[in-house]
Amino acid sequence: MEKKTYYITTPIYYPSDKLHIGHSYTTVAADALARFKRLTGYDVWFLTGTDEHGQKIQRQAEKRGHSPQQMVDEIVDWIKDLWAKLYISYNDFIRTTEPRHKEAVQNIFARFYENGDIYKSKYEGWYCTPCESFWLERQMEEEKCPDCGRDLEMVSEESYFFRMSKYAEKLRQHIEDNPDFILPPSRKNEMINNFIEPGLEDLCVSRTTFEWGIKVPFDPDHVIYVWLDALSNYITALGYDSDDEKFKKYWPADVHLIGKEIVRFHTIYWPIFLMALDLPLPQKVFGHGWLILEEGKMSKSKGNVVDPLLLVDRYGTDAIRYYLLREISFGADGVFSIESLVQRINYDLANDLGNLVSRALTMIERYFHGELPGSGISDEIDEELKQVALKIPAKMELLMNELQISSALAELWELVRQCNRYVDQTAPWDLFKSNDHTSRERLKTVMYNLAEGIRFIGVLLQPFMPATSQKIFHQLNINEQDSLLSWESLGDWGAIFPGHIMQREEDLFPRLNLNTEIKWSSDGEEGEEQDEESTTDVSNEQVSLEDFNKLDLRVGKIISAEKVPQADKLLCVKVELQEEQVKQMVAGIAAYYSPEELKGKYVVVVVNLPPVKLKGIKSEGMLLAASDKSGKLSLITPDADIPLGSKIT
Ligand code: ME8
Repeated sequence: MEKKTYYITTPIYYPSDKLHIGHSYTTVAADALARFKRLTGYDVWFLTGTDEHGQKIQRQAEKRGHSPQQMVDEIVDWIKDLWAKLYISYNDFIRTTEPRHKEAVQNIFARFYENGDIYKSKYEGWYCTPCESFWLERQMEEEKCPDCGRDLEMVSEESYFFRMSKYAEKLRQHIEDNPDFILPPSRKNEMINNFIEPGLEDLCVSRTTFEWGIKVPFDPDHVIYVWLDALSNYITALGYDSDDEKFKKYWPADVHLIGKEIVRFHTIYWPIFLMALDLPLPQKVFGHGWLILEEGKMSKSKGNVVDPLLLVDRYGTDAIRYYLLREISFGADGVFSIESLVQRINYDLANDLGNLVSRALTMIERYFHGELPGSGISDEIDEELKQVALKIPAKMELLMNELQISSALAELWELVRQCNRYVDQTAPWDLFKSNDHTSRERLKTVMYNLAEGIRFIGVLLQPFMPATSQKIFHQLNINEQDSLLSWESLGDWGAIFPGHIMQREEDLFPRLNLNTEIKWSSDGEEGEEQDEESTTDVSNEQVSLEDFNKLDLRVGKIISAEKVPQADKLLCVKVELQEEQVKQMVAGIAAYYSPEELKGKYVVVVVNLPPVKLKGIKSEGMLLAASDKSGKLSLITPDADIPLGSKIT
């Protein structure tokens, strides 16, 4: 049977400078989606590339004293190297300066002209060169670009115009009829209300005041507007207008993945161009949010862009991929910070995943000389693990189809945590110590199930962290056995077979010291390696009893807990302190407690701290918890029944 196809694209980036972590974010996300689809049996075509023409590129090259071609050639080499370092598995990289693209764009332009969609006139109006975008007086704000806030320029020149208005109604209908065409849905309303509703102006599609572009074939004083040139890449790369079979096979695209600032070009101009060519429209245009810094948007002019290569060199590709894919809820804006990166690496990767693999492999080595035993005696608890594992692939697939990449990874981590719980609950070390026949047989099952659970994790991790899953397979000694790495092998529990020789290797993710990393990121220096023990050392500094008594510590009961949207680590809990007295607190414990297990728990809280707002939610106190060296938390709870509101003395 022929495989179903899946065509996914990223924006083609401007090679006017090196790319930053924001561009890497889109490309890593597209890569994870492409790999996931390949894993689940699709014939995938994944396209990325560079948008090399236009005034912005020409000016930047002039500034550098290079020819535009020389500049873009250099930067494109750098970009390709970056994608290789980030394990981007693109099938094609299109450059708009390539003949295959230029010729096809000229034909497209000529066809528009022949069909009467284009006419010649004069443009007099405003232009934003950094965005390569035309603006009307009513759209701009004090001669500034409404998108990027930079100065607009007055442009007055002869131009060709595209009759956008001719297609406006058809486009509106398409958007209304296809709720998945523009995603997330909020962006759809913005397009209709802000751009289609007020009436589409005809679009200026050629320029005459600079040279660097594709010439209008029948009027070489004009170069084709760079957005018409750029958007066409999605079809020219497939060989539209040639004999290439790829176009028939993969068009229309399943997803154009882009940042939210260019949704307008992709959901208004692009579909209208396609309608004029009588081509089907892409299934989905997904405009994800921005990766911003605590101080605001990253921008080259502010000099605050984050260099992905530095991050990859320091933390490794998979840690950066994981962070980008997991930390930001796809669609929303997300803040990049070294603190959250280090926490993700320490908690999710070193503690949860790394620890699981190293514990399991160490035990298989120690208890069975590295040879995976077959199952012995089973228990109900095994069934629980099995059931969680068997359900996760379908849940992840559903989420990935909705482009909810972060939630898909959260599902996978449910399995990682379930495996860790399984180790804690079965306590294999006790079974080993007991050394009787029953314990021995039980120990065999526990080790077998753990190895199988880790295999499931390795398979599901492939699209997100390809190198880490390879390392896991290597330790399980199954890296050559395709059937054990496949999606299909997750249909049943028990594909990994006994007798495999396994070998523990170095830890997947070493734990990091937050202070060292903050120092490194703020001044690029190696921070003082802080003595790890110092975080848990008992302090010699004394406080007076009077000071201690200033804290009002009370016993309370958690009556509800829920996740805080867009903050994976936070839970919002309501704590009852006395009858009718409930305080709300935001606590960073989501990695260690689920909302369900907190309900009814007795806790100790500080109640006389000034209220603060966390993620927009008021927090009126603090839950007390013990923290180990890695930052793992355990809530403090009273040892015996005691009335609510009791004071800690
Ligand atoms: O717009 N956060 O290219 P470009 C998240 N050539 N994503 C970001 C980001 C950030 N802070 N900064 C950039 C162009 N991006 C055109 C596209 S397509 C036919 C032509 C990502 O180099 C995001 O995907 O300015 C955004 O849309 C894209 O880079 C813009 O890249």
